[in-house]
Amino acid sequence: MDWHPKTIVAGVDGSDTSHQAAERALAIARHWNAKLILATVVRQPEGWWGIGGAPPSPEAMASAIADGQRTILNEIVQRLDLDGVDYETLEDLGDPTTQLIKICETNDADLLVIGRRGAGIAERVILGSVADRLCHHSPIPVLVSP
Ligand SMILES: Nc1ncnc2c1ncn2[C@@H]1O[C@H](COP(=O)(O)OP(=O)(O)OP(=O)(O)O)[C@@H](O)[C@H]1O
Ligand SMILES: [Mg+2]
Repeated sequence: MDWHPKTIVAGVDGSDTSHQAAERALAIARHWNAKLILATVVRQPEGWWGIGGAPPSPEAMASAIADGQRTILNEIVQRLDLDGVDYETLEDLGDPTTQLIKICETNDADLLVIGRRGAGIAERVILGSVADRLCHHSPIPVLVSP
């Protein structure tokens, strides 16, 4: 099989592990002259304002979410040396696993690069739940960065 990646999606959630995964994705993209898509998905918060509290307005929520995504994407774009690489940042809202798979499909990606863990407090687990679900359900090859 003469396989090499033409479009690579890197899942970034602001964690160091995901930054390292994105660095690996960039190295692979540079080597193969592939397109790199840096993608972040924000979960729609449900009831995080607590019992009895007034829910934030949809506008406030949407803008808080957009801010968070911009911060995550700005940070990774600043951190990586993207000179000469065809790249794109993508933000989405919803379930990270579902949306990342959708992003891979929509963009006809041939490789998904993620970290073993992410921004969650998951010291106890070896593989984060998003990484775990992606490994089970991804229609394209997944590279998991430790
Ligand atoms: N919201 C997201 N947007 C984009 N990529 C993500 C997102 N969440 C996770 N990822 C990718 O998946 C990798 C593993 O993260 P995961 O969420 O599985 O671990 P965790 O946060 O430590 O655990 P959990 O979320 O189960 O508490 C991350 O390094 C990142 O590459
Ligand atoms: Mg997580």
